[in-house]
Order: sequence, then C-alpha cells, then structure tokens
Amino acid sequence: MQEVLTSQYYMDLEDRYGAHNYHPLPVVLARGEGVFVWDVEGKRYYDFLSAYSAVNQGHCHPRIVGALKDQAEVLTLTSRAFYNNILGEYEKYITALLGYDKVLPMNTGVEGGETAIKLARKWGYMKKGIPENQAKIIFVEGNFWGRTLAAISSSQDPSSYKGFGPYMPGYEVIPYNDLDALAEAVKDPNVAAFMVEPIQGEAGVVVPDEGYLSKGYEICKAANVLYIADEVQTGLSRTGKMLCCDHENMKPDILILGKALSGGIFPVSAVLCDDEVMLNIKPGEHGSTYGGNPLACKVAMAALQVLVDENLSERAEYLGQILRKELAAIPTKLIKTVRGKGLLNAIVIAGGEDQPDGWNICMKLRDNGLLAKPTHGNKIRFAPPLTMTEEQLMECVDIIRKTILEYEAAM
Ligand SMILES: Cc1ncc(COP(=O)(O)O)c(C=O)c1O
Repeated sequence: MQEVLTSQYYMDLEDRYGAHNYHPLPVVLARGEGVFVWDVEGKRYYDFLSAYSAVNQGHCHPRIVGALKDQAEVLTLTSRAFYNNILGEYEKYITALLGYDKVLPMNTGVEGGETAIKLARKWGYMKKGIPENQAKIIFVEGNFWGRTLAAISSSQDPSSYKGFGPYMPGYEVIPYNDLDALAEAVKDPNVAAFMVEPIQGEAGVVVPDEGYLSKGYEICKAANVLYIADEVQTGLSRTGKMLCCDHENMKPDILILGKALSGGIFPVSAVLCDDEVMLNIKPGEHGSTYGGNPLACKVAMAALQVLVDENLSERAEYLGQILRKELAAIPTKLIKTVRGKGLLNAIVIAGGEDQPDGWNICMKLRDNGLLAKPTHGNKIRFAPPLTMTEEQLMECVDIIRKTILEYEAAM
C-alpha cells in the first residue's frame, strides 16, 4: 500500500531536521504555474506574495524554464577563473536595458547590497578622498536588505540584530521620507553613499512622498554622495515601471536588483553603475563562485525579456489601480490603510502590531484559497504575480472581501 504523505508530514519533517529560523504559514506547496500554487493535498491557491516579489513573471514561466533547461545541458558553471560565452552577452543586454555602463553579477539580494556598499566605500576612498577607514553609509529607519552581518547592522528591528553583535561600523540611520534629515546627514564629508528602498517592502510597503526619490538624489549629488537604490523588491516591473525610481525619472548611481531577475528560478542578483564607480574595484577585490554563471545569465536574460514582451510594468500599474480601489471600497473598520504602487501593495489591519489579526486573517485567506503573509504583525502584503488577468484579480478581491467581512463579523 502506498503511503499518503500529508502537509503535516512535511511540516513535521522541517520542524525536526531544519533550523527554526522561519515561521511559515502552515501550507505545504508542491506545484506552481502562473498565478497559482497547489499544496500537497492538491488544493489550489492564488499566490499573493510571489515569493516576496521574486515571481513577478509567474510560477515556472515556460520561457524562463526553457532557457534554464537549454543552458543546463550545455554549460552551468565555470567560475570566474575562466571566461564563458554567455556572461558578456548578458552584461551587454542588461546594461543596455537599464542604461548603465557596467554590471557586477552576484546571487542573492543581500550580496547585491554588500556589493553596492563595497563599491561606494571604494569610490569614497579612490574618488571622493575620504580618509582610509572613515567612509560612512547613510541608511533609513525601517530598512531591510537581508540577513548578513552588514545588513543587520543597519536594522532597527531587534529580531534582526539582537544577539548578533558586534555590528558594522560606519553606518548612520536617519528617518525615512525625511529630506531634511538627509540634507543634514550628507554634510559630513566622510559620507560615501545613501542607501534606500524606493518603497520599503518588508517594513510593510511604506510609500514615501512624491519627490522623495528625485529630491533625495539632488541632495546627494550636491554633496558628492552616491545614491544607492535597493530595488531588490521594488524593481523589475513590480511597482508599475521597470524600476520604481522611474516613477520620478531618477537614475540612481548604484542600482541593486535581485529576486525577479531570475523570475523565481534560482538566486540571481546584480549591481549596476557607471564606470566612475564600478572601475574602482580591481581583480581579486570582489566576487563570488556562482556570480555570473552561464545558467544564471541565460535565465536572467529570459526573465527580463518576459517583463518587456508581456508588458508586465503596464499590467502591474493597471491592476494595481484596480486592486487598491477595490480594497479601499470594502465596507469594514478592520482595514485601516490601503497603500502601494503597481502590484506592490499592503493593507494595514486596525488594532496594532502586537495583535494576532494579521496572522489570523492570512489563515482565513489561506482557507479561502489565497496565500498572503503578514509583516510586522498587522500589515498584509498583496503582491501577486504580474501575469494575473483582470478577471483573476477580481476573483481575488472577492476572496479578500469575503474573508475580511466574515472575520470582522466573528470578532
Ligand atoms: C529590499 C530588499 N533588499 C534586499 C533583500 C535581500 O534579498 P535576499 O533575501 O535575496 O538576500 C530583500 C529581501 O527581502 C529586500 O526586500
């Protein structure tokens, strides 16, 4: 008799043998296609998280999977000890698409952040004339850019940093969406760069005021400080433009991409900037065994081309308008705020971060066939794959409306 393996079996397995560094919603996924995922019992869900915006192109996009399969049979990894015949093609493609002189390929988003900071520090010493070991990087409150020691050193969230000190020196943290604070901070001549997410993802989709990006850039320029945009979550069509900075026609000095750069196939990240910054790093000073591998390059080219060919920026913009309008029209006191840009959105549940409602609502959404995850207790991100149709979106709105109203009625 064949053993039937249930969701509980897989959750117990992870609990028994894996580190307890996550608290997933209890659903065990076994398959994904487009905007849908299926659990091991065969139940279908709309994915409203998209692996934190890595799956902008939809699950298992056939063109991206095709690129992966084709290249996997030819050459996967050479390391950068040797040249390969795909990397240069990819570098030419992505720099032309995004308008930079050069790209530095890495794997994860957090490595992209580390790379950007190394580039900024090196530029600070080589070009700006900052005395050795004195370079400063300015961050903002609520930032999230990963889990390495350099990344948690800029965090104000105790669950990120507590118990992992000592921390990286040379950081200063200022309030988000505060241009006066930025203007004050960059007066220090040792500041090499300002690093910021154009919309704060993990903080709960916090959208800054119009002009924050472009005016912030001007402030940095006037002070000879590099502007680093962390578009790991906001980039690649998610917010209704190829880059979120495009909303303000602003081109950051250093751009960090990750997540959707592979359409969720495997980790691919990249840092883009012009020669003035990039060429300060010399052979041996930075790199990664897997960075720029031919498989990643082919996958990334396919993932980017899908965004362009399927007009996913325009679709995100269009569907985002509808989603926010429909969510705001739900007759409930439970939703305090609806916010976002394109298809990077969140609702804030009334009642506060320490209340269980965010989690409980996500459990009910799951039961009703839609997967979302709370962040900071009471914020629920709504970020489906950008390949969603309007009809599917309206079906999702119905699920959310029904869930919220039923939850409120039972309170
Ligand atoms: C804005 C931002 N930067 C960086 C990262 C880190 O990316 P990764 O988890 O691939 O290291 C994340 C991850 O959520 C992110 O949202």
